[in-house]
Amino acid sequence: MNDPLRTALAEVLDGLPPTEVTAAVDRLIANYRGDTPTHAPILRDRADVAAYAAYRMPATFEAVHRALEAFAATVPDWTPAGHADVGGGTGAATWAVSATWPGERGVTVLDWAEPALALGREIAAANPALKDARWQRARIGKDLTLDATDLVTVSYVLNELAEADRAALVDAAAGAARTVVIVEAGTPAGYARVIEARDRLIRAGFRIAAPCPHSAACPIAPGTDWCHFSARVGRSSLHRQVKGGSLAYEDEKFSYVAATRLPAGPAPARVVRRPQIRKGQVLLDLCESEERLRRTTVTKRHGDLYKAARDADWGDAWPPYDPAS
Ligand SMILES: C[S@@+](CC[C@H](N)C(=O)[O-])C[C@H]1O[C@@H](n2cnc3c(N)ncnc32)[C@H](O)[C@@H]1O
Repeated sequence: MNDPLRTALAEVLDGLPPTEVTAAVDRLIANYRGDTPTHAPILRDRADVAAYAAYRMPATFEAVHRALEAFAATVPDWTPAGHADVGGGTGAATWAVSATWPGERGVTVLDWAEPALALGREIAAANPALKDARWQRARIGKDLTLDATDLVTVSYVLNELAEADRAALVDAAAGAARTVVIVEAGTPAGYARVIEARDRLIRAGFRIAAPCPHSAACPIAPGTDWCHFSARVGRSSLHRQVKGGSLAYEDEKFSYVAATRLPAGPAPARVVRRPQIRKGQVLLDLCESEERLRRTTVTKRHGDLYKAARDADWGDAWPPYDPAS
């Protein structure tokens, strides 16, 4: 994780009794296991949002960062001049955008939970690129309107919305931005919501830049599998204290789609499972531009390609490519 973010999160928790934070984490877990969508914000007070920031924000930051890096590779000369983060909470995606494209831009974070916005603003004070960010109360629903901007992010939000609100949010994002990046948990249900949004964005005239190598239908037969990726999240001692356990890291599973009206160059194929490294060969499961899933075996005989395959990671473009050429 980004060091200023880690330090800022540590400072937030410093001011709160550990028992209060642990109780708030337990409440959050129970809430997220319960029936969503809810009719009122789950993040109700400072202890709730501090718990969210410590317990989830490092992971949502890493997942969004991975998604944005994959998108950025398809538009190497592009930098967003404006960003709106809808359902932005404590602002994980604003940190991920500034980690992907350094520098200042117009940033607006919209959420219905005032305590989340307040904490997000406080944490963002540690990031010069976010010093002028606007943190605004807004309810996602049919009345949501978004100002025109280059990039809209929607990270771990669709899960909390009813179907009509999910549709309203995707339509508002499609109407306001040239690029929309949506990230959800890497579960079958998270993937299904991503596909629903992907279809809607394509119908609105967007092309898919990542992770898919094409804008045709997803080749996964519904119900048989789900497209997801993994981001490694380093755990600070503070994070271990809040979440329990002693591992130095955890792997956040996420699904995502980056859709754009820009002339993007999607990857020729993407590695959709963890590569299997065997003696003298690497097995890669690929989603290909020919609109199919295929396993390929790269062996020593392939020379440089074999070296690249040994370095390839789940989620990477394959083969390594230059979208500008
Ligand atoms: C799981 S959090 C994700 C926060 C942040 N985007 C992230 O990735 O860490 C979901 C956020 O969506 C917000 N949210 C849920 N339903 C909403 C609604 N109807 N209107 C506005 N915000 C909503 C919540 O308040 C919360 O901040």
